[in-house]
Amino acid sequence: MKIEEKSTNSDIEPSPEGSSPDLYSYAPFSGSVETSKSIRFPQQIVTDEGIEISIRPVRPDDVALLKSLFESLSPESIYFRFFAPIKDFPDHMLESFARINEDCEIALTALDRSGKMLGICCIAIMEDGIRGEFAVLIGDPWHGKGIGAELLKHCLSLAKDRRVEVVWGRVLPGNTKMLALGRKLGFTLKQVPDDNEYELLIDLRKKN
Ligand SMILES: CC(C)(COP(=O)(O)OP(=O)(O)OC[C@H]1O[C@@H](n2cnc3c(N)ncnc32)[C@H](O)[C@@H]1OP(=O)(O)O)[C@@H](O)C(=O)NCCC(=O)NCCS
Repeated sequence: MKIEEKSTNSDIEPSPEGSSPDLYSYAPFSGSVETSKSIRFPQQIVTDEGIEISIRPVRPDDVALLKSLFESLSPESIYFRFFAPIKDFPDHMLESFARINEDCEIALTALDRSGKMLGICCIAIMEDGIRGEFAVLIGDPWHGKGIGAELLKHCLSLAKDRRVEVVWGRVLPGNTKMLALGRKLGFTLKQVPDDNEYELLIDLRKKN
């Protein structure tokens, strides 16, 4: 998802009435991507690499935490996430990341035991209610510790819970970590014709 899409995505409209009245209250669901249990937040997780994290929805008062997270990013991570060499993340931009439209966005964050924000992941649900675009971002000091995998898996579970059928994301060709993470979670990878980018796509109807 590119930077300008967060605040201006006219493709995204509230999902049909009744599809998900309350994003953060979950009934048990069957055949989820990750588990078949209901998800209650905060979720205390130990990643495959043994890091203890707490996963919860992004909140409007997360601006200061987001600021620290963004300060931990390398230019490469910023480029990989936003497809642009952004130098500065002004408050209004951080506020827009923290302001989640629950009708059409799923957004989770991972925190460490001290409350530091380690990463965020979101899925923007399209107008049709069955397609969603993911984006994930982990602070550089915490790459390779299983946090991106946990956040994305949880977002996919919530998306499936909301009857989203297909989730995709665009990834730059040099982004080997994201390509590897996509493969690991069962995304199919396709090079976009006439473009250097990859499209990662997962069909949640086929996941159990
Ligand atoms: C891509 C990104 C989200 C991955 O998150 P992460 O927390 O570092 O990834 P994880 O530790 O969960 O690793 C998941 C898988 O990714 C792969 N991976 C992780 N670190 C890697 C590395 N240094 N080199 C190659 N592959 C790597 C592995 O397959 C790993 O699974 P495994 O450990 O079981 O082999 C993170 O690097 C990031 O935020 N990058 C910048 C922003 C970005 O590129 N976002 C994606 C576009 S939306």
